[in-house]
Amino acid sequence: MTCLSKISFAKPKGAGKDRFQIMSKKSDFGLIGLAVMGQNLVLNVESRGFQVSVYNRTTSVTDEFIAKHPGKALVGAHTLEEFVQSLAMPRKIHIMVKSTAVADSDRDAVDAVIEQLIPLLAKDDIIIDGGNSFYKTTERRDVYLAEKGLRFIGAGVSGGEEGARKGPSIMPGGPASTWEVMKPIFESIAAKVDGEPCVIHIGPGGAGHYVKMIHNGIEYGDMQLICEAYNIFKHAGFTTDEMAAIFNEWNEGAMQSYLIQISGKALEQKDPETGASIVELIVDKAGQKGTGQWTLMNAAENGIVISTINAAVEARILSSKKKARVAASKLLTGPAVNITTAKAELVKKVHDALYASKIISYAQGLDLIKSMGEAKKWGLDLGRIASIWRGGCIIRARFLNSITDAYRENPELSNLMLAPFFIDVLTQTQQNWREVVSLATLNGIPCPAFSASLGYYDSYRAERLPANLLQAQRDFFGAHTYERTDKPEGQMFHTDWPEVIG
Ligand SMILES: NC(=O)c1ccc[n+]([C@@H]2O[C@H](COP(=O)([O-])OP(=O)(O)OC[C@H]3O[C@@H](n4cnc5c(N)ncnc54)[C@H](OP(=O)(O)O)[C@@H]3O)[C@@H](O)[C@H]2O)c1
Repeated sequence: MTCLSKISFAKPKGAGKDRFQIMSKKSDFGLIGLAVMGQNLVLNVESRGFQVSVYNRTTSVTDEFIAKHPGKALVGAHTLEEFVQSLAMPRKIHIMVKSTAVADSDRDAVDAVIEQLIPLLAKDDIIIDGGNSFYKTTERRDVYLAEKGLRFIGAGVSGGEEGARKGPSIMPGGPASTWEVMKPIFESIAAKVDGEPCVIHIGPGGAGHYVKMIHNGIEYGDMQLICEAYNIFKHAGFTTDEMAAIFNEWNEGAMQSYLIQISGKALEQKDPETGASIVELIVDKAGQKGTGQWTLMNAAENGIVISTINAAVEARILSSKKKARVAASKLLTGPAVNITTAKAELVKKVHDALYASKIISYAQGLDLIKSMGEAKKWGLDLGRIASIWRGGCIIRARFLNSITDAYRENPELSNLMLAPFFIDVLTQTQQNWREVVSLATLNGIPCPAFSASLGYYDSYRAERLPANLLQAQRDFFGAHTYERTDKPEGQMFHTDWPEVIG
């Protein structure tokens, strides 16, 4: 066993006896992986009065981190043995390393760390994976670690660097009894809204990482919708300063949100070298890490429509094909842009289109969570899930209060659009929403997420869709049978369709 004296204690300059006494006790919490998220989470946990032990594969990172934060209750370990020995039992070890597994059978750095930890831990010690792990991988680890007598929490953490430091939104999944042990630490480090911490026990197994994945899908939708609003303004001749002012103003109203706020701030930013808008200097190729695509795959598996989120993911994919787009721009024609709507009027219309589309994006994401929660019997509480997204995370927004209220009033709500508050908003905004989609389409300005949202709204509210003809086609070529409007539900019919030659 490695002796504790080898651990590089963070001895603060001028630290008194009291501080050293804190350091010589075992730590309340341990974190592995001192990249941007890990470092900030550690500082957050420490700032709430907990002593934290840290370990990073590259030990110089640990040393630099400890040296950078004198006076803090931190213990830096050079080996996992030292790290584990420095923790109070049951040990609470938060892993914050790169997660790359995209299927439950894949192995990544999280698995590597878990394997190294297992022989060092005792029964009932707790491992938390706080990275962006795929929920199926989390389910596999949950079962595996339970067999080893260890407890496991798969926790989605949102809020980026700033959230991790000041208070993220945390979505933990795992056994309720393990959550109870972690609750004091998680509730103290999470963001707070109206005094409520932005963390709840989401559900068993992979439920936490699953909800984080859908959160990211909704985030993709939000971001794309904002970009489409920006693109319409740009084509209508607004300057970046004018657009920044619009987003700043919207951030004072119903659409107040972190993403609207940072979009306004980004548009204000000037390049120090050229004085030009920095946003206009950025190449229009969007990156992505995979949670959006996972959301799409899961929606397909569950038979749930998430067309807005789908459009957002595909918009990123198409944006990345820059060379192909540049070549096509010289060959494929479109209309000349001619927007004559007065600027103030256009701002109001685009506001409404964005607001309505955003509601649809959340309606779809929450519908997917509901469906999956029911299929997995996770017992998810959509109102409480919406409530922990009100602060700390990337999609934090004022209107999440209305979503929380909608599910609190009716926990069985079948679709967010059907809550009285949202029926009202969609009724009020839809004329402008339709006009914006028309205006963009007539001017050849792509608005895939705006129009997908409107298509979802119109399809969802349609008493009769053209699927009758579709059923006829299926029966025609494949004898798939169909139901009739004038006969009892479930009774299937087939027609002997005429033969088609050629
Ligand atoms: N960045 C964000 O805004 C954000 C937000 C929410 C969630 N997340 C998730 O949080 C996790 C951490 O993200 P991050 O951006 O802070 O860091 P990251 O770049 O995803 O990961 C870097 C960390 O992983 C460690 N690592 C990589 N491979 C390892 C291995 N085989 N064994 C042990 N350690 C290994 C690195 O150690 P070395 O220093 O030794 O290389 C380093 O500490 C990821 O799952 C990420 O998806 C990130």
